[in-house]
Amino acid sequence: RQPVDSPLYPLLEASAEYFRQALKQHPARRAAVDYLKGRGLTGVIARDFGLGFAPPGWDNLLKHLGGDSLQQKAMIDAGLLIENAENGKRYDRFRDRIMFPIRDSRGRVIAFGGRVLGDDKPKYLNSPETPVFHKGQELYGLYEARKYNRDLDEVLVVEGYMDVIALAQQGLRNAVATLGTATSEEHIKRLFRLVPNILFCFDGDMAGRKAAWRALEATLPNLQDGKRARFLFVPEGEDPDSLVRAEGEDAFRARMLQQAQPLADYFFQQLSEEADPRSLEGKAHLATLAAPLIEKIPGANLRALMRRRLGELTGLSGEAASEPASPRPPQP
Ligand code: GTP
Ligand code: MN
Ligand code: MN
Ligand code: MN
Ligand code: MN
Repeated sequence: RQPVDSPLYPLLEASAEYFRQALKQHPARRAAVDYLKGRGLTGVIARDFGLGFAPPGWDNLLKHLGGDSLQQKAMIDAGLLIENAENGKRYDRFRDRIMFPIRDSRGRVIAFGGRVLGDDKPKYLNSPETPVFHKGQELYGLYEARKYNRDLDEVLVVEGYMDVIALAQQGLRNAVATLGTATSEEHIKRLFRLVPNILFCFDGDMAGRKAAWRALEATLPNLQDGKRARFLFVPEGEDPDSLVRAEGEDAFRARMLQQAQPLADYFFQQLSEEADPRSLEGKAHLATLAAPLIEKIPGANLRALMRRRLGELTGLSGEAASEPASPRPPQP
């Protein structure tokens, strides 16, 4: 998946170290420290996640690491520097941002996310795709989740960096985030290799609902019997960060126990909103929508149970509801 060795790794690690040091020592660090404190984070969590600070200015990292032209070229490849196409000038990609190092499963820094301290746009800036960073495969916080949990039984999938960190701050150290991309089959495959249980924890808004359904679609082809996925929606206007900070660890855990919906429940509830099974037409539509999705499930037991459930909802036998359309007979 990733090159075993690449000159980009030491460069990225050195950059992470530079950002960490800047958060501790740079003359402009105050604003960054205050920002993190204002979001309820302590030094312990900042350290555990290796948070850093890219100071204001166009060439802090460039000056620090970009000794020669070859090195600068590698920094461009690593997504750390940007080269102006017109005049060839090189400058730091990340400026005046809180820095979140993104690590691979072995703990190597492969990319960064950077957040502005205020309300400027873009709020988050991510490293571009590089030879060592493929967004659609990586999960922020997965390395840390494994590191701080001996037997990881369940992973929480959330939307944002700050959700991962805020949950960790409150004692829930098993959250990961996709990097501003939709949850992919690759993400789920990786997670189910490591844990039997996934809890998706998305915002209750429209975007969160859409993200959840896409996560469900990415999960179905990975659902072996024995694997389990659940869905928890955070009340509208909140996200896991704001919620866990407002109500604390225990209340959040209680919510996980009481309100998380098993995938199958969420599946039928969601589809029944789209195709109302109170009418025959709705039943037919529901069967049309649900059957091909159910057939993606590799776990034979769950697949059979969901077929049966679909049959109960529609009155069609599980067989009929899930049978693929038969080929048209040859026309005379
Ligand atoms: P905070 O305001 O820091 O709490 O951010 P958030 O994580 O709550 O942000 P939001 O829910 O808006 O977005 C969730 C995730 O989407 C973020 O963590 C980022 O990974 C990604 N994202 C949000 N805004 C941007 C953006 O402007 N650019 C990019 N590339 N990604 C973004
Ligand atoms: Mn590659
Ligand atoms: Mn949202
Ligand atoms: Mn959010
Ligand atoms: Mn947030």
